[in-house]
Amino acid sequence: MIGPKSRRILITGGNTGLGLALATKLARRHQLLLSGRKSRDEVAASLPPGAGYIVADQSDPETSAAALLDGVTEFGWDGLDNAVLNAGTGFAAVDGIDSTDAIRQTLDVNLLAAVFQAQALYPLLKKTSGTLTLIGSDAHKGSATVPAYAASKAGLHGLARALRSEWKGNVSVQVLHPGPAKTEMHDKAGYDPGLMRSLFLAPEDIASMMASAIAARRSPVTLSWVKYLNGGAYTGRRL
Ligand SMILES: NC(=O)c1ccc[n+]([C@@H]2O[C@H](COP(=O)([O-])OP(=O)(O)OC[C@H]3O[C@@H](n4cnc5c(N)ncnc54)[C@H](OP(=O)(O)O)[C@@H]3O)[C@@H](O)[C@H]2O)c1
Repeated sequence: MIGPKSRRILITGGNTGLGLALATKLARRHQLLLSGRKSRDEVAASLPPGAGYIVADQSDPETSAAALLDGVTEFGWDGLDNAVLNAGTGFAAVDGIDSTDAIRQTLDVNLLAAVFQAQALYPLLKKTSGTLTLIGSDAHKGSATVPAYAASKAGLHGLARALRSEWKGNVSVQVLHPGPAKTEMHDKAGYDPGLMRSLFLAPEDIASMMASAIAARRSPVTLSWVKYLNGGAYTGRRL
C-alpha cells in the first residue's frame, strides 16, 4: 500500500534479474521508476503495476545519465529518496583475455555510466537527504574468468568510498556486493557455471538482503551465502 512513508525509488536495470526482484519486493510500499536498455513495449508486461520506465542505454554513459534525469522529471518527481544503480553487464573472457569491445562495454555500462548518473542525480537525492546505492559484486575482489567485470566492480567500490565521504551530510552513499545469483546474467555473458549454479542464491533472496542493506545505509555490504545463512533475507531493517 503506497502511504505517507512511501519513497520515490529509481532502480537502473530494473526490468529483469536482481533489479526487477528488488522492484517487485518494494512495489506495494513505494513509488518506482525503473530503467533498462530494452524498449518500454518489450518490458511492459513484466514490470510491477504502477512502475514507470525509462529507456537508458548505458553503453553511452553520458547520454544514459541525461535520459535518467529527463525521465525522472517527466515522471513528475522533483526529488529522489533512493537511486539504486544496478544495471550491469559482463562477458566471460577466454584465457583471462577480454576482447576490446567487451572491455569497453563492461567499463562503460558498469562503471562510467554509474559515475555520470551519480553526478546527475545528486541534486535530486540531496533534496531529500536520500541514498545512492551502487550494486557491485563479490567479484570486485578479483575474478579470473571476468577481469574487466572485476575491474568495473572494484571501480564502483572506490567510487562509493569517495562519494560517501564527499557527500557526507547531504546524500548517503553505499556499495552492495552480491554473490552469485540465479539470473540470466551468466548466460548473457557466455559463462556456464555448470553444477555451481545450484549453489547460486535466488534473486528474491538477494533482493531482500539488498532492501534491508539499503534501509541500513551501511557500506560496503556483501550479500552472500554467509549473510543468507545468518537469516539475512528474513531479518534486518525494512525499506
Ligand atoms: N547475477 C549475479 O550473479 C550477480 C552477482 C553479483 C553482482 N551482480 C550485479 O547485479 C546487477 C544486476 O545483475 P543481474 O544478475 O540482475 O543481471 P541481468 O539479469 O542480466 O540484468 C541486467 C540488467 O542490466 C541492464 N543492462 C544491461 N546492459 C545495459 C545497457 N547497456 N544499458 C542499460 N541497461 C543495461 C539490463 O537491461 P536490458 O534487459 O534492457 O538489457 C537488465 O535490466 C549487475 O550490476 C550485476 O553485475 C549480479
